Amino acid sequence: ALRQSITPNAQIGKQKSWNHVWPQASYKVAILGAAGGIGQSLALLIKMSPLVSSLHLYDIANVKGVAADLSHCNTPAQVVDFTGASELANCLKGVDVVVIPAGIPRKPGMTRDDLFNINANIVKGLVEAVADNCPDAFIHIISNPVNSTVPIAAEVLKQKGVYDPKKLFGVTTLDVVRANTFITQKKNLRLIDVDVPVVGGHAGITILPLLSKSKPSTTFTDEEVQELTVRIQNAGTEVVEAKAGAGSATLSMAYAAARFVESSLRAIDGDADVYECTYVESNLTELPFFASRVKLGRNGVEALISSDLNGLTEYEQKALEALKPELKASIEEGIAYAQKGI
Ligand code: NAI
Repeated sequence: ALRQSITPNAQIGKQKSWNHVWPQASYKVAILGAAGGIGQSLALLIKMSPLVSSLHLYDIANVKGVAADLSHCNTPAQVVDFTGASELANCLKGVDVVVIPAGIPRKPGMTRDDLFNINANIVKGLVEAVADNCPDAFIHIISNPVNSTVPIAAEVLKQKGVYDPKKLFGVTTLDVVRANTFITQKKNLRLIDVDVPVVGGHAGITILPLLSKSKPSTTFTDEEVQELTVRIQNAGTEVVEAKAGAGSATLSMAYAAARFVESSLRAIDGDADVYECTYVESNLTELPFFASRVKLGRNGVEALISSDLNGLTEYEQKALEALKPELKASIEEGIAYAQKGI
C-alpha cells in the first residue's frame, strides 16, 4: 500500500516539532514517458505523495495537457512539464528519483522480448541523459523487457563513468502486487497481512513467486502452487488479452510503481525499515542481475536479502534452475546491445 511515512526522530520527545514528526514534501521525482498509459496514472499517484515537492513530467509529446490537468490538484507537489529532447536535461537536474516507463507496450501475441529493439534504444537514450544530468538519482526502469533494459542502463552508466549499482532498479513491484492479490483471494486471507517475495526477473518463467516464503505462513497444495505460480507469471498477458490491442497493464502498474517510488523516498528520507523486491545487480546467484527482496536505504540498496533463497521447496528450486538460462540470455542480449555502440 502507499503508506504514509513518518520520519523517525530520536529527539521527538525533547523537541517536538511537526516538521520532524510529519513527512515534509521535499523530494523531486521525474517521470520519463509521462504522457503514456502508465505515466499519467503514475503521475497522479505521485502527485498525492506527501514526500514530493516537485514532479517533473517528460515525454516526446502530449505532456503539457497532462501537467496542466494534474497541477490543479491541491497537493504539495509542483508539476512541471518538459517536451522533447531539448528539454530533457532541464527535466532531470536536481532530481532524486527518475522513473522510466517510456516505450511501447505489448499487443496480444507479443512477448516482452518482442519490444526489445524499440525500447532498448529509448532506454539507452534516456539513461544517457540521466547520467549527464542527475547521476546520483535512484533510477527506476519500467520499460520492458526489464530483464534486458536494466543491464542496458547499467552499461550506459558504466560508459559514462557514473554507474552505482545500488541506485539502478528494475521495477518488479507489480509481480509482488499480483502475487499478494491472487494468494489473498485463493486462500481467503486478510489482504493487509499478505506479502509474497517474487524473485528472478520480470518475464514469463523468470518471474518466480516464492509461495513457501509467504507471509502469513500459508500451506498450499501442489496444485495450488502450480496454478498460482502460472497465474502470477502470466498475469501481464491476462491484461494484454483483455485489452485486446489497446496495450498492457497501466493502472495496476502505476499503482505498483508508485509504491516503489514511495518506498524509495521513505528510504532516502531516513526510514530504516524499507524492503521491496526489485531487479538489481546481484550476487545471490551466478547471474549478474537478479530480482530479490532488498533493504533500501538513503544510498539505495543496503542489502540483498539472501534468506528468501534458503530452504526452497523442490518445486521452487527446479523453477529457479529453469529460469536461469532464459534470464542469462536476456541479460547478455542487453549488455551486447549497449556495448555495440562503443
Ligand atoms: P504507452 O504507449 O501508453 O506510453 C509510453 C509513453 O512513452 C508514450 O507517451 C510515448 O510518447 C513515450 N515515449 C516514447 N518514446 C519516448 C522517449 N524517447 N522519451 C520519452 N518518452 C517516450 O505505454 P505504457 O502502457 O505506458 O507502457 C510503457 C512501458 O512499460 C512498456 O514498455 C511496457 O511494456 C512497460 N510495462 C512494464 C511493466 C513492469 O512491470 N515493469 C508492466 C507494464 C508495462
